[in-house]
Amino acid sequence: MAKAVVIIGAQWGDEGKGKVVDILTEQADMVVRFQGGNNAGHTVITGSEKFIFHLIPSGILHQGKTCVIGDGVVVDPEVLLKEIGVLKAKGIFRPEDLIVSKDAHLIMPYHKKLDLARERLRGKARIGTTGRGIGPAYEDKVARCGIKCADLLDEGEFRAKLKANLLEKNHYITTILHEEGFEIHEIYHSYMTFAAALGPHIKNASKFVYDSMQAGKKVLFEGAQGTLLDIDHGTYPYVTSSSTIAGGACTGSGIGPTRIDSVIGISKAYATRVGEGPFPTELSGAEADKLREQGNEYGATTGRPRRCGWFDAVALRYAARVNGLDGLVITKLDVLDNTEKINICTGYKYNGKVLDEFPTEVSVLSNCEPVYEVMEGWLSPTNGAKNLKKLPAKAQKYLKRLEELAGVPVVMVSVGANRNDAIMIKNPFK
Ligand code: IMP
Repeated sequence: MAKAVVIIGAQWGDEGKGKVVDILTEQADMVVRFQGGNNAGHTVITGSEKFIFHLIPSGILHQGKTCVIGDGVVVDPEVLLKEIGVLKAKGIFRPEDLIVSKDAHLIMPYHKKLDLARERLRGKARIGTTGRGIGPAYEDKVARCGIKCADLLDEGEFRAKLKANLLEKNHYITTILHEEGFEIHEIYHSYMTFAAALGPHIKNASKFVYDSMQAGKKVLFEGAQGTLLDIDHGTYPYVTSSSTIAGGACTGSGIGPTRIDSVIGISKAYATRVGEGPFPTELSGAEADKLREQGNEYGATTGRPRRCGWFDAVALRYAARVNGLDGLVITKLDVLDNTEKINICTGYKYNGKVLDEFPTEVSVLSNCEPVYEVMEGWLSPTNGAKNLKKLPAKAQKYLKRLEELAGVPVVMVSVGANRNDAIMIKNPFK
C-alpha cells in the first residue's frame, strides 16, 4: 500500500491538480505543498461552493487532514492570512491543521515590485509572470540573502536581514528602475503583524512530515505549476523559478526520494499554457476560442485567458520520463465532448526531421511543427459517467491512445468541474 504519493502537473500548469488533490486527500492523512507560491491557483468545486487556493494545500477542505506548506514554497504572508481569513469566515479553518515551514522563504514587497518592473523592462521578451514576486523571492533564496518564515519569529534577526536587503534593493529600484524605494519601518511593522498571526503555524515542517510518515501516516505531496515550467527541465526562460517536477517534492519538503511510493502526473485531455513561451500545438482563432470557452480556460490567479491547443504526447512522454510517472490522471475529458475531430501530437517536425524527444531549447521548440494523429470525436456527453465502461467507446479509445503514447497507465479521469465528476480506475494509495 502506497504511503507517499506525489501529484505533479505534466503540462504547463492548470491541469486540474486542485481537484485531484481534493479527491485523493480523502485517502491521505496529510497534504504537503513543496514549491511555488501564490502564483498557483488550485480550484475546488464542492457542490455549491467554489474555492481557489493559492498557498494553502487544497486538502484543507477535509476535516482532520494536516496541511503543510513545505520548505521549498515561497510564502507571501499577507496572501496566506487572507486565505486563512476566507476559511475562517466559512467556519472551516482548524488552526491545528495548518503548518508552515520555518524554512520556507518569505515574499517581500520589494520582490513584487521587482517582478513587475522587470517584466515591464523586458518588453516583448517578457515571460508573462503572475507578478506575485515569485522569481525575485527565489533569486534571493539562491543568492543567500532571503528572509525565512523562521525570521518572523525573531524580531532582531528579521530587522537586520530586512535592513541589509533594503540597502541593496532600494538602490537598484531607485537608480536602475527609477521607481520609489521602501521604508524599513513600514515593512517591519506590517511583517511583525503577520508574524503575530502566523507564528503559531511556523514549525519544523520537514521533521513533522518525517515523523508522521514514520508513524504510518499517508502523505500526498501537492505540486504546483507543471513540468514544462520547471526551472531546470522546462522551456527556459519561459518557466517559473522552482522545481515543479516530482524530484522537487523531496527537496521542497525534506523527505528522501526512497520514501516516495508513487508519482502521478496530471494532464488535461488537451493542452493550455498561460504567459509567454513556445507552445507547439497551440490553436488560434475559433478553434482556440471554442476550447477556451468550453473549458473555461481563464487563469485562477490572474484571470488571464489561457492559450489552448491539442494534446501533446511528445511533451507528455518527456514529463513521464523526468518525473518517473507511474500513473496518469486525464482531466477535462468532457470539454472535448462536442469536438468532431480530435488531434493528438505524436511528433515534432524540425528542419525536415521528425523529433520524438521534447526539445527544451526555445529556439528549436518555437520552430517545431506538430505531427498529428486524428481521432474521431465521441460527440456525446461524458459527464456523469461513473466508470470507464460508461464512457462512449470513442472516448475510451482516445484515453487508451493517450495511455499508449505516454507509456503510463491512466489511473483517473475527470469528466466535469465538480468533486464527484471523476472516474477512479486505480487509487494511487491502494
Ligand atoms: P511566475 O511563476 O509568476 O514567475 O511566472 C512564470 C511563468 O509561469 C509564467 O508564464 C506564468 O504564467 C507561469 N505560471 C506560474 N504559475 C502558474 C500556474 O499556477 N499555472 C500556470 N502557469 C503558471
